[in-house]
Amino acid sequence: MLKCKPPFPLVISKGYKAEVWDSRGNRYLDFSGAATSLGQAHPKVVEAVKKGVERITGFTGLIAPTEPYLKLMEELSSLVPLEKASVAYATTGSEASDFAIQLAKYATGRQVILSFYGAYHGLTGYALQSSPTEGMRRVAPRTSESVYAPYPNCHKCPMAAEDCEECSYLILEFIREQVLGRAVEPEDLAGIIVEPIQSHGGILVPPKSFLRGLREIADETGALLIVDEVYTGFGRTGKWFGVQHFEVEPDIVVLGKGIAGGLPLSAVAFKEDLVNSWYLCSGGSLGTFAGHYLSVLASLATIQAIKEENLVENAWRRGEQMSKGLKEMVQEFDFVYDARGLGCVQGLEVDVEIAEKLVLSLFKRGLLAITVGRHHNVLKLTPPITVTEEQVEEALSILRASLTELK
Ligand SMILES: Cc1ncc(COP(=O)(O)O)c(C=O)c1O
Repeated sequence: MLKCKPPFPLVISKGYKAEVWDSRGNRYLDFSGAATSLGQAHPKVVEAVKKGVERITGFTGLIAPTEPYLKLMEELSSLVPLEKASVAYATTGSEASDFAIQLAKYATGRQVILSFYGAYHGLTGYALQSSPTEGMRRVAPRTSESVYAPYPNCHKCPMAAEDCEECSYLILEFIREQVLGRAVEPEDLAGIIVEPIQSHGGILVPPKSFLRGLREIADETGALLIVDEVYTGFGRTGKWFGVQHFEVEPDIVVLGKGIAGGLPLSAVAFKEDLVNSWYLCSGGSLGTFAGHYLSVLASLATIQAIKEENLVENAWRRGEQMSKGLKEMVQEFDFVYDARGLGCVQGLEVDVEIAEKLVLSLFKRGLLAITVGRHHNVLKLTPPITVTEEQVEEALSILRASLTELK
């Protein structure tokens, strides 16, 4: 028996794009997901993997690359928001965050990383240390190598500011005045790791000034700006990468989840001139299964599908559709406080008292969605970017029915 329970009493047997079916044949709309931008069993991904598995099951890139492995490196280098990028593969988002931090330390010769309360970068050593959320905090290695600052919340600013811009300003001032020179000497700061939208933190979309301010602080101190796009990458926010909404160029980009149509793959993309050689990475592989043949094929098929089916645009349009419906619910129900997000990353903040009941009620009506945030009261609505207008409409009416039931 499972000792740690999943959020739903469900055994999944199949899926197609934004829909999944359980072992009893019940259909669900999957708005919980993030492991794949395309959702389940996208035909292009299925075909690529089927064809590939008969040729190679898995030759490690540590020894020699395959052709698709090299091709994907080129594709990723041209897609990521870096002027000239190098790419190294890993397997999970956690590992890629970890490697990005190791790279920042290696390239700068410095030790300390600044990250943000509520962040989630993964479950391995450095990634965990940079994820000061409850639970994680208890098991993360505690050394003086991480410092933390608040992340802007435009609905309820942790600095008690009146509006979003002021919130961002006060946090940047806090970093300049209270973190730098107090918690860490500026010349010891190796990197700043940040999510363009905090997902586990509660679907928090910061104002542009925040990421721009972090870029300035990185430039002033000589630290590197690491953007964690594990959640927000590959079209999910209505741009290829979340950071593109903020018009900021990072130094290092962490990629995962949506990169390979559901197969395990992650990557670290970094400015080409950051290091001449990286002791860890042989031939661009950070580990035996990094850049796995089948995952790389799935990733190439994913990129092709996103381009050919205009899925970045679809993510944006479906996001507008969701946002409109969710904002109406904020007006309509007095226990629904805020709706926010970009593209297919949307959140609905509800009263703590009803959050758990809401998730259960949605599940019973056939909508999978979980809660995130400090008090687990932000309903996270992150459908795959293949979601259709009709499916979004269906999800919104399920949500409205559940909220009405809880009124
Ligand atoms: C922003 C972010 N970074 C890193 C990770 C870790 O990825 P993985 O679960 O593939 O290790 C996650 C997972 O949810 C994430 O959302």
